[in-house]
Amino acid sequence: MSISVGVVGAGYVGLTLAACLAELGHQVMCVDSDGSKIDQLNQGNSTIVEKGLPELIRSSLESGRLHFVLGSAATVVDTEIIFLCLPTPMSETGAADTHLVVEAIRELAPVVAAGTIIVNKSTVPIGFKDVAVAMIGRSDVHLVSNPEFLREGTSVSDFLNPDRIVVGADSAEVAQRFLRLYETIDAPVVITDPVSAETIKYGANAMLAARLSFINSLAHLCEVVDADIDDVLRGIGFDHRIGSELMSPGPGWGGSCFPKDTAALLQTSRQAGFDFPLLAQVIDSNHAQIDHMVNRIEHAAGAPASGATIAALGLTFKAGTDDLRGSPSLEVLDRLIARGASVRAYDPTHPTLGANRMIIGADPYEICVDADVLVVLTEWPEFSSLDFRRIHGLMSSPNIVDTRNILEPIALRDIGFTYVGTGRN
Ligand SMILES: NC(=O)c1ccc[n+]([C@@H]2O[C@H](COP(=O)([O-])OP(=O)(O)OC[C@H]3O[C@@H](n4cnc5c(N)ncnc54)[C@H](O)[C@@H]3O)[C@@H](O)[C@H]2O)c1
Repeated sequence: MSISVGVVGAGYVGLTLAACLAELGHQVMCVDSDGSKIDQLNQGNSTIVEKGLPELIRSSLESGRLHFVLGSAATVVDTEIIFLCLPTPMSETGAADTHLVVEAIRELAPVVAAGTIIVNKSTVPIGFKDVAVAMIGRSDVHLVSNPEFLREGTSVSDFLNPDRIVVGADSAEVAQRFLRLYETIDAPVVITDPVSAETIKYGANAMLAARLSFINSLAHLCEVVDADIDDVLRGIGFDHRIGSELMSPGPGWGGSCFPKDTAALLQTSRQAGFDFPLLAQVIDSNHAQIDHMVNRIEHAAGAPASGATIAALGLTFKAGTDDLRGSPSLEVLDRLIARGASVRAYDPTHPTLGANRMIIGADPYEICVDADVLVVLTEWPEFSSLDFRRIHGLMSSPNIVDTRNILEPIALRDIGFTYVGTGRN
């Protein structure tokens, strides 16, 4: 069954959604206020690095099932189901700034046809649905909360093979009508009320952030008791209640979602009268991990960092994406720059970078010339197969700090490097 769908916002979520729904056979109109983005998409070029996305965009444009249009929410007024995939960045208070979603609902409410389903995919504060329903002010227009759980880097496969589909709706009839969109997807479906759906989204991200903070703290403990975090996590991960996914230490968690969603959940919770001290600790512990990494790198560079040359591998917040938003790599490097270090960085998805605070190298070897320390900040797989003998010859001091534990310490020490991992002995 082909359904006419509007998607407002062609970013990470909206673009993946639009291309995947078109792939499932629906007729999709995707609107964005950024003209250059729309031009690029209409030429069949993806605006983000995501595996499989360029192919889906091109095939859906060719089949005529996908259209990209410049405009605002009302541009997709004639579609049956309208998804809002607009940014909800962190405001100064820590709360999610919903003004773009509010504007879109205000624009759509008076003009959509009776029976239209407006679906919120943006991550909005718990209870936002009541605000939205009041703004719509029409009993013949329905609001559904359908939070998105895709992981950047694997967004297409996550969308087409999701762990679950969550639908928050006020009536079973609306939920079922909405779910026709996903009828060819084989996944568990959680149908609930909109407030619970909003809470599921925040709860999931907060729990994942908590897991990462715990792993990073455990890695820190390994450093002080001389245990090996890789073995420790392997031993823990075989417990099926815990599992082995998302089990690597790193420089701290980041990205476009975890920092803002944990802050927003904490803010909502406090406003509702529950302090949620554990969540506050999860956030604080992440700041402490970033501090710890900065200190370790400075130490490896022969502290203080002032005057040291640091070569950095990886700028994105994780591998497989070109997204720099909330990247712990950038935070670590900016702090080192603030301490007087000069930084040269390489990332496969960023041959250039707007800001001139650091030099961006064309290849991973160029940045190593005369460097005092080489730091791995993003887990791009290609970094583990670099020619480290060549790198050893290029650096002024052969120091490596591998915040992601993707390199082979024994092989590197054999070459002559001083190697420091995270929680590794
Ligand atoms: N990125 C993720 O991995 C992810 C995962 C799950 C949920 N989310 C949530 O989904 C929402 C969107 O996130 P994103 O990462 O896709 O954001 P994004 O910034 O990548 O994309 C938003 C898009 O909306 C467009 N836009 C802004 N204002 C507009 C307007 N008035 N009319 C039309 N288009 C407009 C922007 O040009 C941009 O292309 C956020 O609430 C986010 O928290 C994101």
